Amino acid sequence: MRYYPVFIDLAGQLCIVLGDGKFAVEKAAALGEAGANVRVIASCDYRPGALAGARLVIDASEDEDINRLSWQEAEAAGILINVVDRPAQCRFIAPAIVRRDPLLVAISTSGESPFLASMLRARIERWLGHEWGPFVGLVGDIRRRLREQGVPIAAQTRVYRRLLNSNVRSLLRARHSADANQLANGIAAGRACGAGRVALVGAGPGDPELMTVKARELIADADYVLHDALIAPETLALCGPDTRLENVGKRGGRHESGRQASITARLIELAREGHFVARLKGGDPFVFGRGGEELDGLQQAGIDVVVVPGITSAFAAPAAAGIPVTKRGVASSVAITTAQGPGSLDRLADLARAADTLVVLMALGELSETAAVIGRAVGGSRAAAVVGNATLPSQRTVTGTLDSIARLAAEAAIEAPATLVVGDVVAVERVLGGVPYAIAL
Ligand SMILES: C[S@@+](CC[C@H](N)C(=O)[O-])C[C@H]1O[C@@H](n2cnc3c(N)ncnc32)[C@H](O)[C@@H]1O
Repeated sequence: MRYYPVFIDLAGQLCIVLGDGKFAVEKAAALGEAGANVRVIASCDYRPGALAGARLVIDASEDEDINRLSWQEAEAAGILINVVDRPAQCRFIAPAIVRRDPLLVAISTSGESPFLASMLRARIERWLGHEWGPFVGLVGDIRRRLREQGVPIAAQTRVYRRLLNSNVRSLLRARHSADANQLANGIAAGRACGAGRVALVGAGPGDPELMTVKARELIADADYVLHDALIAPETLALCGPDTRLENVGKRGGRHESGRQASITARLIELAREGHFVARLKGGDPFVFGRGGEELDGLQQAGIDVVVVPGITSAFAAPAAAGIPVTKRGVASSVAITTAQGPGSLDRLADLARAADTLVVLMALGELSETAAVIGRAVGGSRAAAVVGNATLPSQRTVTGTLDSIARLAAEAAIEAPATLVVGDVVAVERVLGGVPYAIAL
């Protein structure tokens, strides 16, 4: 580590700014905001000895001779000095900052790239909304109160976690400060402690960058994340450091309906213990994801539940392969279905006739039969594509016709999860193994 990061309390301390240009004015103003006793010395007025008694000096004179002298004087006197734009003559450097008073985020590239520091600052600015200022203030007030009351650290931490996972920030974002205060005080007093919550969260098709901002925030803040087996490790890495992960994906020998019931029961159990639980499901939670059953079960149990939609693979897989499911002049309707479950074969034939583009999830297992059934309904020469591992680095696509697609997918060893797309939109595009998506990266 080249620099040791600190925040310095300069209230009432003598700080000297050398120079009379724009930088000097800016630095003097910033020091003034921190409560420093600021003295500005114009370049023409500087004489060695002028820095005596200062805690900190910023030389913004942009004059080589003054730079050299001020550096020598400050070093000899042990005064912290920053000579603007002269890294070798800086005892400290000023970070880029994001201000959400009292929250302050400082970003430094150790002087390597002010450009990157300011880009990162812009990102963090967008991420940390204005509500973070009052939120940190509120949590600070509660912390002082809990400490005065002698509440043990572990119990305090539970309160802070509940505050973080509550609606307090949303209320502050909507500028409903009185409601936010009331809720926060209720949580601190233990009145709202029993109120656990569940979020049914869509994780998108695979690429963690295709998760919504809301989904990312929820899994970062959750006490528990109950996730499907197929959720990528890179996505799970976005969970908070203290978040407990439970893989509730398919386990051998377990009956599907029993598995589903036990997941819902576990969600209810954790929520009743007062936890904030994210149920993380691939794609969108309500597209062949059994999210509807979980929602019913949670609502019947009286649990507070929110649904966070995700990008479904039904749309992401064709899009990532460069297949526009509705293309002007080619297709103006799209149907989404699955090749699994009772009545699926009849349904496939009906939908293939009715919609211009047909997207079939869970198609890989019985791809030959699926393609044959659709082929008998709309003709075996209809264009088809299978997209596997869409939006992941391992994305693969094969294209052909309904007559050939099962053989081609087997030859290419396309692996699950994979999605079948049928219709003229496949034929009119050059589908190149996911290249459009790869270029976007
Ligand atoms: C049980 S369904 C869940 C669908 C999910 N809820 C959604 O909205 O994407 C699983 C099927 O989604 C499709 N799928 C999921 N992820 C995929 C991916 N990365 N690429 C292609 N297809 C995918 C496959 O057809 C897979 O069999």
